[in-house]
Amino acid sequence: MEHNRNSFYITTPIFYPNGNLHIGHAYTSVIADIFARMSRLSGRPTYFLTGVDENSLKIEKKAKEAGQEIMPFLDEQTGKIKDIFEKLRVGYDQYIRTTDPVHHRGVIEMWNRLKKAGDIYEGTYEGLYCVGCESFKTEKDLIDGKCPDHGVEPEKISEKNYFFRLSKYADTIAQHIRTGDFLITPVARKNEILAVLEGGLQDIPFSRPYKGQPNAILVPGDETQSIYVWCDALTNYISALGFGSSQKTYYDMFWPAKVHIMGKDILRFHAAIWPAMLLSAGLPLPKQLLVHGLMISGGKKMSKSLGNIVDPEEMRGIVGAGGLRLYFAHDIPLTGDGEISKDLIVASYNAHLANGLGNLTNRLLKMMISYEVQFDMEKVAHTPVWQKTEAILKESLDNLDLTGYASYIWKEFASIDKEIQDTEPFKVFKVDPDKARAIVSGMMIKFYTLVYFTDPILPHTSARIISYIRNRQMPERPLFVKI
Ligand code: MSP
Repeated sequence: MEHNRNSFYITTPIFYPNGNLHIGHAYTSVIADIFARMSRLSGRPTYFLTGVDENSLKIEKKAKEAGQEIMPFLDEQTGKIKDIFEKLRVGYDQYIRTTDPVHHRGVIEMWNRLKKAGDIYEGTYEGLYCVGCESFKTEKDLIDGKCPDHGVEPEKISEKNYFFRLSKYADTIAQHIRTGDFLITPVARKNEILAVLEGGLQDIPFSRPYKGQPNAILVPGDETQSIYVWCDALTNYISALGFGSSQKTYYDMFWPAKVHIMGKDILRFHAAIWPAMLLSAGLPLPKQLLVHGLMISGGKKMSKSLGNIVDPEEMRGIVGAGGLRLYFAHDIPLTGDGEISKDLIVASYNAHLANGLGNLTNRLLKMMISYEVQFDMEKVAHTPVWQKTEAILKESLDNLDLTGYASYIWKEFASIDKEIQDTEPFKVFKVDPDKARAIVSGMMIKFYTLVYFTDPILPHTSARIISYIRNRQMPERPLFVKI
């Protein structure tokens, strides 16, 4: 199968399955899911990958703390993550586990290519290692001698490693970023990374001594060393598609990715190490990195290590999957940091769903049914309002402008509300029923269209409202109860 220029391959970072997913992880996954659904709705061949980063030291520690063997622990974690994805309607096409054999084959193939390119060499590493970040640190990364993200002193280590010749690629990567064929958005992140690249990159350790860590991928030809987590983890984006296996149809179809989505905490890995690996391996670069801000709680990045986590399950219990998804899409600026709070989520739910879409649905359905309004649903797709909304969908997708898309649709819903107020069909009906029917029919065409195009944000609700319209039926209970 040939690569289709229109194909839309979208990924989330693979998550460390060492605790419950917090709202920041849910955010990354939900926005990726919304883009994937927008892409499917616009007719593009779409592939949405998410998954877990299982081969790491901190996972091993967690399993030990839980008194469990590693594989049953990981299976249980994956069960929990899949469950929350299902509840939040995160409809991935593939969930990659770095313990999957297909992934191991991809990593080995990647290593062999880097080696063949002359970019892997043996050396000794002396320095600091933060297990929380799974990365090496320099003094200037630390605050008061501690990792700023994890609040712990990194370990001092001296060990034999294989190094990856990252330094060789700084200029080429910067060039790809400047020309825009490796796009980094928003522009502040692009500039941040360009500054790093212009300062030059240092070669980095790509292996660590193998000490019997479960699931480690051993260096081909040297079983005393295991492949370092980021080389392992980043490769998931292509191993999942079959890179390194005999079955690589998906790789051929979908690589290069349209977009990798991630939080700014892991931008450098994706904007420096990953493209360098791909260049070294002779593979195309992803088209874009979309870097979102971090959700903060109590002024600090939410993280399992800090213990300041907002639980997406609890939030879903209050405002439902739709409430949370709409909040992410409509209220969180994609590229800034957002303090997350229950009150803000509830206020958004009440405004946009209970008082907004929920009320509007009721008012329109009631009028449509009681005034016996007819409109031809099969022809809606040929109306100007449909064509305009479809064009907005495509444009928002091209620009990865989620908040723009969500706010456009909700403004249009509000404009129908306003039209009801202005035209007062309930009064018109008493004197001129046909005129009232014509007014409501026009509104129904617009409403049906908008509901159809909300599907990426509110997948189940959209289908439910469409079926009420088609069956000329009132919901048995309110769609969104006010909180
Ligand atoms: N396993 C690595 C990623 C490897 S990708 C090849 C990792 N995992 S993680 O579970 O710690 O975090 C993954 C992602 O979750 C972050 O990049 C970010 O996208 C998201 N978030 C983690 N904390 C977040 C917030 N507080 N706010 C928003 N998103 C956050 O790093």
